[in-house]
This record gives sequence, C-alpha cells and structure tokens, in this order.
Amino acid sequence: CGIVGVVGSSQAAPVIFDALRRLEYRGYDSAGIATLVDGRIERRRAAGKLDHLAALLAREPLAGVTGIGHTRWATHGAPTENNAHPHGTGRVSVVHNGIIENFEALRRELEAAGHVFSTETDSETIAQLVDFHLARGLSPRDAAFAALGRLEGAYALAMLFAGHDGLVIGARHGAPLAVGFGEQEMFLGSDSLALAPLTRRIAYLDDGDWVVVTRGGAEFFDATGERVERVARTTALMAGSVGKDGYRHYMEKELHEHPVVIGQTLQRLIDPATRRVRLPGLPFDLARVPRAVVTACGSAFYAGMIGRYWLERIAQIPVDIDVASEMRYRDPPLTPGGLGLLISQSGETADTLAALRGMRARGQHILSVLNVEQSTIARESDAVLGTVAGPEISVASTKAFTAQLSVLACLSIAVGRARDTLSAEGEEALVGSLLDLPGRAGEIFDLAPAIREMAAVIAGARDVLYLGRGACFPVALEGALKLKEVSYIHAEAYAAGEMKHGPISLIDRTVPVVASVPSGRLFEKTVSNLQEARARGGRLLVFTDTRGAERLRGLAEIVVAVPTVDEFTAPILQTIPVQMLAYEVALLKGTDVDQPRNLAKSVTVE
Ligand code: G6P
Repeated sequence: CGIVGVVGSSQAAPVIFDALRRLEYRGYDSAGIATLVDGRIERRRAAGKLDHLAALLAREPLAGVTGIGHTRWATHGAPTENNAHPHGTGRVSVVHNGIIENFEALRRELEAAGHVFSTETDSETIAQLVDFHLARGLSPRDAAFAALGRLEGAYALAMLFAGHDGLVIGARHGAPLAVGFGEQEMFLGSDSLALAPLTRRIAYLDDGDWVVVTRGGAEFFDATGERVERVARTTALMAGSVGKDGYRHYMEKELHEHPVVIGQTLQRLIDPATRRVRLPGLPFDLARVPRAVVTACGSAFYAGMIGRYWLERIAQIPVDIDVASEMRYRDPPLTPGGLGLLISQSGETADTLAALRGMRARGQHILSVLNVEQSTIARESDAVLGTVAGPEISVASTKAFTAQLSVLACLSIAVGRARDTLSAEGEEALVGSLLDLPGRAGEIFDLAPAIREMAAVIAGARDVLYLGRGACFPVALEGALKLKEVSYIHAEAYAAGEMKHGPISLIDRTVPVVASVPSGRLFEKTVSNLQEARARGGRLLVFTDTRGAERLRGLAEIVVAVPTVDEFTAPILQTIPVQMLAYEVALLKGTDVDQPRNLAKSVTVE
C-alpha cells in the first residue's frame, strides 16, 4: 500500500519504480505503474514482488514523463495482476490506498449508467466515477472534485488523465499523502521516505484535502473545494539513512540499532545535568489526571502493556488497556480529563486513529508516543512524545519497540513525580537504571551464538510456547508475535502463572518453551512454573540475566544471560534477545524476513 506520482521532465517510470522500492517496507502483494504516452494512458502491472514488475518493464518499457505507481496490499479482490493498480478507463487512471466503503452502491449506480467494470476492486469504482464526470465534459479537476464528494471510507489517491500531460491530481482522506517539490518536477508519495532522494521539500495534505499537481507546483484545496495553503517544509530524513549498511536484512540492521535508539530517545527526555525526566510542555497537568487508558496495535500494544505495569506501580494511577480494534467499539465510560495514551510507530494505523477519536470524544487528553512525528495521529493529538528510532523499514517492528518503552518509562516517572508517588531519590534511581541501558543493550549482541542454538531447536518445531510474568509477560507476547511474523511458526504466549490453566496440556518434547525470567521479585515464581513444564518433558529455552543464570542452568536446556539490570528496566533489555531469536529462526527457515507474507508495515485500513 504505497502511492507515487511524478510530473517530471524526464522518463517517469524508472523514477516511480525506485520510489516503489522505497515503499516496499509497507508490505504489498502486487504493483503497477501508469504513464502518459502521447496523451494516452499506458500501464504495466504485475502480481507478486516488484522484481516481476521490473522484468515486465524491461520487456515492455514505459515512456512518458507523467505517471503514477502503486504497491497494493489486497483488501477487496485477490492479489492478481488484474486487481493490481492503476485502475482506470481510457480517460483516467487511479491508484488508491484504503477502502471505499460505499463502493457497491456506487458500482451499481455506474453499471446502471452503462459503465463496464473489469475488476473486483473497490478502487476501480473511483476511476469509473471520475470517468463518468469526464464523459459529461467536466475538466479533470472538476471531475475529480465531483467524484471525491461521493466517496465514503478511507483513501489516499493519485490520478492521471488522458490528454493532460503534466497533470496529476491527489487526494487524502484518512490515509497519508505528501507532495514533493523539485526543480521543474513535482512528486506525490505516501510518505517522505518514498520521496527522500528526489526532494526534501515536502508538504503534507490535511485530511480531506486534494491537490492539483503540475510541473510548476501544487494547488491545494480542502474538502469543500476552497483553495488552501499547505506549506512545504524541508525534511531531515536523508536517503542514506534508509540503506542496509552492510547488514543482510533491515531487521538485522534495526536490531543492532537498539542501543543507539534507546540512547537517543532517553536523551530527549532526561536532563543530563539534573538526571531528571523532563517532558516537553504538555497542555494538561499530569498531576490532575485521574486515570489512563492505553491503546495501540501489534507490537506497540505490547509496549503499552509494559507501560501499564510501570504506570500502575510507579505512579499508582489506574490504567485500562486494550487493542485499538476493540477499544474503538467498546464505548468505555471514561471520566473527562483522563489521559488517553496512544502508541504507534507509524502514526497512521487506522484502528489506533479511530480509538484516538473515540477517546477525544469522551474528553480525554490525548498523548501519543510516535515514531513518525508528522503523522495523522500526531496531528490529532494534544501532545506527542517522539521515539527517536529513525526510519523502521522491516515490517516486523524491533527498534521502535524499545524506543516506545524508553518513552513510556520516562512518562511513568513523570506521572509518578507529578502525583507524588515517586520521591526525588526514587526518580534518581530509576533514571540511573535507564541511562545504563544503551551500554548494557550493546553487550547483548555477544550472546548471538547461544541464541542461534535456541533458533536451531525452534526451527524444527511446529508450535512454541512463550512464558513470562509481570512486565516480562508482554515480552513473551512480543517474542511470540515476532516469531509468528517472520518465521511462520505458530507461537503462543502465556502469563507463566496461567500456564497451568490450559497450555500445560500441550507440553511435550515437541513444543519448546521459551521463557523471559530476569532476576527480581517474580523470579522464583516463574522458576516454579518452568519446573512444572520441565516435569512434563518440556524443552526449556530461557532468557535471564547474569544473576539468575546459575539457578536456571540445571533446569533449562539453553540459558541466555543478559546483563543484570534493575527490575524496572529489565523488560527493555529482555526484549532484544527475544527479537533476535525470531530473526535467527527466520534465517534458518529462509523466509522473506523484511517483508513477511500477508503483513503490512502500516495498516491504514480497518
Ligand atoms: C502492523 C505491523 C506491526 C505493528 C502494527 C502497529 O501490524 O506489522 O509490526 O506493530 O502494525 O503499527 P504502528 O505503526 O501503529 O505501531
């Protein structure tokens, strides 16, 4: 699900193709490009990876200086060539991200008017609708405006018009779209990453905006058709930062960025002189917040779960948490003035955004923990705490997770101080253990040989059980999710104490048990649970710390001991080897590590 548009002065197709490569990280299962050749629309599309499209373009090159391109992640209709974008008629060609909710009604209406559809997609409806207005004699911009008014759902669009070289029209409603300003050439893209080597001058459309892009510039309009100004800013992102830097995969590179990312994120939130947490100014008072409600999707949700343990323990504040796809429809009774805490790497996840709007409607102060600070969620939040993780390209999240935890840890300290549940000395101790993390995290990569031994055991298994207690229970959830995502092996995570109420019946020699058991309050409790598994023939693969290692060596088949740190920060450190394990298993299984099948980096549909 990536969009690119080019109004250029040289061949458009190669530029579009390279930009689609940079959008690969979002996940996709087909791709296509359309350009204008002598005023006619020509297109090339292919199912599967971009290499298929590249081969097609090599056989049948596309000329033209104006064009649009798309990587599609199937929603309506299978990932076939015929369903791949661009869609269109002889008059107009369209690429679309998102879902048109009223497409069936529109399609019936257009079919009754004589339009013949060639695909099963909701996106083709947009093209046919624009075509309908063009056929009535409307200009491209009037036809586009008329069509946009009929669309319900979420979309980002780019359109190309036969006979109108040098023109691309874009629109945004619930899915992101950016305009890039070049010298005598202009670009559209789903994000600034797609446009990074082309231009650093980027303007974002607001929700509901549409834009007419020509070689000389861009005219922006709002949903009512009024001209609006959208300012181009110079982005800091450099193309160089999105390479693999010699690593085999982005996932491997990003795993190695954990120490740096944790350090950079903490640097923003901790004053080095006083060693106190110093959040940027918030438009509400943390001391007066009666409770917090946390929501997110995927890995970000597990980061939120760890955040809950911290907020409850350190700040003694009641916390409710749920995945965003549930939260958005739960209608929870929320006391106005509470804290609505959202966590997202991309800041574009549709469910998280919908949950945000629900919380806002219930009078919550919206605070978001985001990696992309120029995202839709950022714009709709009262305040944003940035995770300084840099671009995360691998579909499976790694470094963004520890950056989210770094922010949540600082937030918990700040709330604790504001509510007076944490003393100044208490803060000093917690901050000390946070500042210790980047160095400690760096030592974990020395443990790779033992992690590879674990991977060899897991690669032969069909099912794997992950266990953890307290704030390390979400670490187990994250470990199981990562393994499923990149190795396609079924994994399930359980709170270690709950294992006896169900999954214990699964345990035998064929189901490895992976546990995250750092020393501390819950250590002995978890060891007892592991003994229960061992007694039933379970093969134990255990992550602990140097203090817990001795006790576990007799019990577990393989023990990986990370540096011992404070119980508070242990979950951050424990996450790293668990993610490394998933990566090593994926290598053994030979899967498409950075772009696992069926997954998307940023899910902007419900
Ligand atoms: C997708 C990705 C996950 C990610 C989740 C939430 O499912 O594959 O890795 O955790 O979305 O994304 P967000 O951008 O909101 O953190």
